[in-house]
Amino acid sequence: MRICSRKKSDSDLGKEAKARKHEICRETGLCREGDMQRMGKGRENDNKWWKSAVIYQIYPRSFADSNQDGIGDLQGIISKLDYLEELGIDAIWLSPVCKSPQDDNGYDISDYQDIDPMFGTLRDMEELIGKAGEHHIRIILDLVLNHSSDEHFWFQEAKKSRENPYHDYYVWRDGTEGAPPNGMRAAFGGSAWEWVPEVGQYYFHQFSVKQPDLNWENPKLRQEIYDMINWWIQKGVGGFRLDVIDQIAKEPDRQITNNGPQLHTYLRELSWETFQKADLVTVGEAWGATPELAKLYSNPDNSELSMVFQFEHICLDQIPGKEKWDLAPLPFRKLKEVFARWQTQLYNEGWNSLFWNNHDLPRIVSRWGNDGEYRTESAKMLAILLHGMQGTPYIYQGEELGMTNVRFAIEDYRDIETLNIYKERLEKGYKEEEIMRSIHAKGRDNARTPMQWDDGEHAGFTRGEPWIRVNPNYREINAAKQTGDAQSVFACYQRLIRLRKEYPVFTDGEFRLLLEEDEALFAYTRTSADTQLLVVCNFFGQTVRCPLAEQTEGMELLLCSYAAQGQEAVLRPYEARMYLKN
Ligand code: GLC
Ligand code: CA
Repeated sequence: MRICSRKKSDSDLGKEAKARKHEICRETGLCREGDMQRMGKGRENDNKWWKSAVIYQIYPRSFADSNQDGIGDLQGIISKLDYLEELGIDAIWLSPVCKSPQDDNGYDISDYQDIDPMFGTLRDMEELIGKAGEHHIRIILDLVLNHSSDEHFWFQEAKKSRENPYHDYYVWRDGTEGAPPNGMRAAFGGSAWEWVPEVGQYYFHQFSVKQPDLNWENPKLRQEIYDMINWWIQKGVGGFRLDVIDQIAKEPDRQITNNGPQLHTYLRELSWETFQKADLVTVGEAWGATPELAKLYSNPDNSELSMVFQFEHICLDQIPGKEKWDLAPLPFRKLKEVFARWQTQLYNEGWNSLFWNNHDLPRIVSRWGNDGEYRTESAKMLAILLHGMQGTPYIYQGEELGMTNVRFAIEDYRDIETLNIYKERLEKGYKEEEIMRSIHAKGRDNARTPMQWDDGEHAGFTRGEPWIRVNPNYREINAAKQTGDAQSVFACYQRLIRLRKEYPVFTDGEFRLLLEEDEALFAYTRTSADTQLLVVCNFFGQTVRCPLAEQTEGMELLLCSYAAQGQEAVLRPYEARMYLKN
């Protein structure tokens, strides 16, 4: 076993995390001698552009349709760059647009270096990168590196024979038909093992059967991945989001899916061979991240990633050991505790991402706000609460309008996960009503209905037949109605983005939770040398007393979730206030 030599650190920041990293690489012995020295320490992350940036996620098939086939596309995105510049965002994270049979809406890639015709062409992508640049917006691609599509050339070859040079690009185990290697289940239901009679083996898939897992133990595969990423970097992308990155180092024989022992060794090699060559933002999706692990991923020495998406806060309304479909209330004080822990632990030792929504999650205003009477106020409250914290905020398309969940009948759903759970739970004897309640609350299609641009047919998303129904509330909730309105949810997001650019305290202020025990208020300060920010939010629908009146005296009120001024000592339902002392 080769042992890496530890490089002396010249900075105090992250010393501890570096030591842990060293341990990991000593345990695994995977790194090449000498390499670890350069990989152990990347280029430092101070003053990186993405620390004061706000990133906007686009789910391309639901954003804007330019050719009226009912599916959003790259030209559609280009046509909305003015809107995005007006909002003020710095970068767009695009959910996958590469060639794909669309079994999991593009998270099953069959060619990493081409665009799916449904979205346009490679030339459209180059045009998007260029035009977005003119609007001061960078393009972040979604890299799906844990698995490919079964229609990828590699897999087509891999399943031909055990001798095929691509065979080992995937995870195979010997067996006999009907007796899989173990009982592991795939995330979208069913066994994680699929039998291929031609080779007399099973392949491993953590997601659908059309998403075979890639074998990261194979250095040739890793090199192909690096070449592909470098090709995209050459094209001028601004960064990458890494799909389920904590699952790449799986070890199915030990039933390990995420956080496998080799994970951080792979990540350091990946980062060194690709990301560190340019000034990019990288964000890894890591459902299994803890603050300790996040310090490894996002160490300020830049040896792995800029940051991760962690999900501790967003999984709080789920009972441990149960599925997300088993609905449970949100433990509010725990929510504060979780945010505070991440804010404090990553301070100077890593970097947070800040998000409520993405294409896999229900709409936050329906989930933890109020999508009826107080939709506008609660959507703004949730925005103010999140955007005052330290980290890089992500806005998911339509969140800036306060778009809500949908309540479709099962025929109108498209998501593979939703359709599978419906079938699975019916078979298990659940009542249809109960299953639908779960789908209405947690189904991924809540976030995937078309962007609501105006009150015209199909919300201005397409003049064709949309691939999924538009939320019927589009006449009330749409971009056209909000962009000129200073009191809209849109205007609130716009303001929050501008404030982040204007006051460095948003980027570097130290976080402190206030009123920990309070059952209704979420309050905190952010403090830097000469500035203090104070955020106080009433998270619920009852009017409550504000115990911070003394503290806010003399501070400037920057933003409030209500249009009309209220009383200093009282917080109305879902009232949020942001104060500044300069
Ligand atoms: C991630 C994506 C999700 C996808 C899955 C498999 O969780 O966000 O949409 O289904 O990975 O690629
Ligand atoms: Ca289209």
